[in-house]
Formats: sequence, structure tokens, C-alpha cells
Amino acid sequence: MGRIPHRPGGPWTGILLAASVLGSCLQPAPAQTPVTIVLTPPSPVVGGGVSLAPQPPPQGFVSCSWYRSATTDETSRILTYFPPPNPIQQNGSAHTGRETAGPGCALNIAGLMLNDTGNYTVQIQIPTAATPVLSITVALRVYEKLAKPTVTLNQTQVPENGTLTLTCNTSPRADTVLWLQNGSYLTPNTRLELSSENRTLTVLNFTWGDTGTYQCEVGNPVNTNRSEPSTVTLAFSPPDAPHPGAHSSLSTGAVAGIVIGSLAGAALVGVGAYFLYSRCRNKTPRENEAPVLVYENLPPTAWAGPVAQPGSPPDLSPMYQTLQPRQPDVYEELKK
Ligand SMILES: *[C@@H]1O[C@H](CO)[C@@H](O)[C@H](O)[C@H]1NC(C)=O
Ligand SMILES: *[C@@H]1O[C@H](CO)[C@@H](O)[C@H](O)[C@H]1NC(C)=O
Repeated sequence: MGRIPHRPGGPWTGILLAASVLGSCLQPAPAQTPVTIVLTPPSPVVGGGVSLAPQPPPQGFVSCSWYRSATTDETSRILTYFPPPNPIQQNGSAHTGRETAGPGCALNIAGLMLNDTGNYTVQIQIPTAATPVLSITVALRVYEKLAKPTVTLNQTQVPENGTLTLTCNTSPRADTVLWLQNGSYLTPNTRLELSSENRTLTVLNFTWGDTGTYQCEVGNPVNTNRSEPSTVTLAFSPPDAPHPGAHSSLSTGAVAGIVIGSLAGAALVGVGAYFLYSRCRNKTPRENEAPVLVYENLPPTAWAGPVAQPGSPPDLSPMYQTLQPRQPDVYEELKK
């Protein structure tokens, strides 16, 4: 070896390299035993097929059996395969008519169904190997092509500070559910809550910035699909419910408040009149009667003015001005 030139890349280098490669090939190869099972395709789809192939391919095996379980229980045996020169496939009780064995102990399943998902075990007999009986288990998952999801909303016109709830209707086997607003992906925050594996999106304290279109996008390794956009707008505050004291200007609500105040004022006149009438008729009214409560909660000017001057036509507008601030109390008392 000392006479071999050390010049890198010289002719001897190549020859030695070739010799060493050749030498390793000529060595008696240890019987190859599979260490894993490779799925082709890796994400099989309903209706399609899949091949479960031990890798590296077993050499010198005399038979192999496939089981539809994590064990080699005879009741779960799909088939037993004997290799060439006399290839034979013996079906077991778990054979569905869609399974065939191939070269190298591969199991091929056609017409895949969702419930083909599960564990599969192959047992390989290699008498010459260090492990004469070898078992390997693999998990098979069959995917469905996800259809276009739909979005259900609790309301499409959301009042300011209201709550918007969106539900993404999709297969329970969708791996991921993402939400988009106006085409951009949403991430949860203090006002955006995700629940039920992202299938429900809740928008709290709805504001102008939450308006627009909402979509959900469902995905698995086979495909992704987006719903049609659902449009959500900001609703005007409902003008019908009274919110006493909440209005500082003549908004729609304030106008409604004045109208309601007028009605309450008219009712008050009636209550006051009733009170005066019952007091005239009965000098000692019982203390728990409603008119007594009204009397205790109102300043004398609020009711005594027009009522105390019978005969003069009641000038209602100033009374309403006076009554307006008292409206919550009157409203509360009248409801009792
Ligand atoms: C909505 O909430 C904000 C902050 O709490 C408040 O300033 C605003 O007045 C609320 N709007 C309505 C219509 O209640
Ligand atoms: C749920 O949504 C979040 C935020 O968009 C996302 O990061 C996560 O991957 C989603 N999880 C699932 C299971 O869809």
C-alpha cells in the first residue's frame, strides 16, 4: 500500500474506491428484515386504494400474514401470503373482498372506506433471519375529501356591543377549522373566542370593525375547503326599549324616552288624580297602597301643580320638562 501514489484524484483512488464498493457487495448480505411499513399514498382517501409495504422489503421469507388489528389474533387475520415460485393467497375471516397481497408482503386495499381506519399488523416468517417471526403494526387513517362547509350565524345585524356567534358546519373528521374575516385569517383574542375545536367563533362587544364577511376554512391532509362568505353588518340600536338616563342628547332613543315620559306623565296625572280622589273619599289610606308609594317618590311640584289647581287647563309641556328626570322612578313604581 506504501507504493500507492497519494495524489488525490489519481487513478488509484478510483480503483480502490471501486474495489471497496465491490468488496462490500460481495460480502454475504445479512438477511434483510423490514423495520417499518410504508403507506402509499401516505394520506389515502375514501374510495381510493392504499398499499402497506414492509420496508426494506423482506428477503427469504416463507410466508406473511396480515391482520386487521394491533395483534396477530386469528379472528382478525385478513390473509396469509406465500411468495413465488408458488404464490398463494389464503384469505382469513377478516378478509372483505378488497384486499390482495403483493410482492414483498405488501397488502393492497381497494375501495377504501372510512372504517378501514385502524391498526394493521403484518407477521413475517423468515427462518434464516435473527428474528424468524417478525411482527410490525402500522396505523392506517382513511381521509374523506372535505365538502364545502357552511356557516350559521345567530344574527346578521349585530347591535353595538352585541355578541355574534358563528358556527362552522363541517365533517366531525375535519382536522383543522380556521376563520376568516374579510379574507384574512382571524386569531383569538379577548373579544374573539373559539370553542368546540374551532367550530364556533364568538365575537364579543361587537363594533364597526367586526363587520364584513366571515368564512370558515376546513382542512385535512387531503384537501381544504372554504365556506361562502356570510355578511355581518352593524345594527342600529333598537329604538323601542327605554333606557332612562342613558341619553345625553336628543338621539332616537332620547326622543323615544320623551314619548315614553309623556305617557308616564299622563299615567302619573291619572295616578295623582286617583290618589287625591281616594284621599278625599277615605281620609286614612292604607300605607301599602301603590299611590302612597308614588307620593313618597315624587317632589310635590311634579304632581301638585296642575292637579292642585282644578279648573285651569293643565299646561302639560312644563310638567313634562319637570317629569323627565323623575321618569325612572315613576316607571319603576308603575311596573310594580
Ligand atoms: C359599547 O361599549 C362601550 C365601552 O364599554 C361604550 O363606551 C359604549 O357606549 C357602548 N355602546 C352602546 C351602544 O352600548
Ligand atoms: C384553531 O384556530 C387557531 C387560530 O386560528 C389555530 O391556530 C389552530 O390551529 C386551530 N385548531 C384547529 C384544530 O383547527
